[in-house]
Order: sequence, then structure tokens, then C-alpha cells
Amino acid sequence: MLFLIKHLHVWFAILSISGFVLRFIWLIHSPHLLSKRWVKILPHVNDTALFTSGLVMAVGFGHSLSTLNWFSLKLALVAVYIIFGVLTLKLQIIRLYRFVLFGTALILYSSILVLAVMKPYLL
Ligand code: HEM
Repeated sequence: MLFLIKHLHVWFAILSISGFVLRFIWLIHSPHLLSKRWVKILPHVNDTALFTSGLVMAVGFGHSLSTLNWFSLKLALVAVYIIFGVLTLKLQIIRLYRFVLFGTALILYSSILVLAVMKPYLL
């Protein structure tokens, strides 16, 4: 069962970054598309599914948040990634700053991926 949830979790993670990149492209080239109802709702549904599947696995696999390990670092980075994602899409700023925020969010996402796959021993 946990194997199936992990599989779904990875798909939710792929959908999360794909949706973010797509919304960024739309913001630059066709901002009117961002006001569609499903464009506003779907990312929240997917992120809730990503978070819930992650929580179920964390309990199932017995990962702890009480020490510094790959899992606690990953969760902290997910929080920062979400903040940068929101800032990228919502702030009224010049294009250069928006690209910097976008690039930072992509770097954060890559770090989360590396942590999730490699599960390095930290302390
Ligand atoms: C940007 C967000 C996220 C990405 C890109 C991501 C990515 C991944 C990937 C690729 C795996 C599979 C790793 C493997 O090959 O073993 C994984 C596993 C996992 N993720 Fe996430 N994840 C994200 C968010 C979350 C969140 C929010 C949670 C917790 C609430 C979470 C908890 C877990 C757990 C517990 C595992 C299983 C670890 C194990 O095999 O022991 N993830 N994640």
C-alpha cells in the first residue's frame, strides 16, 4: 500500500512543478489564462494530495521531525519552495526579479528531489 502511495506522491510532485512552470510561462506570455477558475483551484488540490501522501508515508515509514535528518530538511525546503512559488506568481515586480524568484524556486525544488531520492545522512 505504501508503495502505491509513494508512486502517487512522485506523480503529485511532477504535477506540482509542471503546473508551476506552466503558470509562470502563462504569467509572462498570456496572463489572462491565470484567471480561469480551474487554474486557480487545481494547484491547491494537487498540493494537498502531495502533502497528504507525504504525511501518510512519513507516519508509515516512521520518519521523525524531532532531529535534523533528510526528511526534516526536506520539509523545511518544501515550505521555502512554496513561499518562493507564491512570491514568483503573485508579486508585482519587474521581470528580472520575477525570473530570479522563479530560478530560486527551481533550485529549491531540485534540492528537495535530491534529498528525497538520496536520503543523505546529515547528523
Ligand atoms: C516539492 C515537494 C516534494 C517533492 C518534489 C517530493 C519528492 C519525493 C520523491 C521523488 C520521493 C521518492 C524518493 C525515493 O525514490 O525513495 C519522495 C518520497 C517521500 N516524500 Fe516527498 N516530495 C515532496 C513533498 C513532500 C512532503 C510535503 C512530504 C511530507 C509531508 C513528503 C514526504 C515524503 C516521504 C515520507 C517519502 C518516502 C520516503 C521513504 O522512502 O522513506 N514529501 N518525495
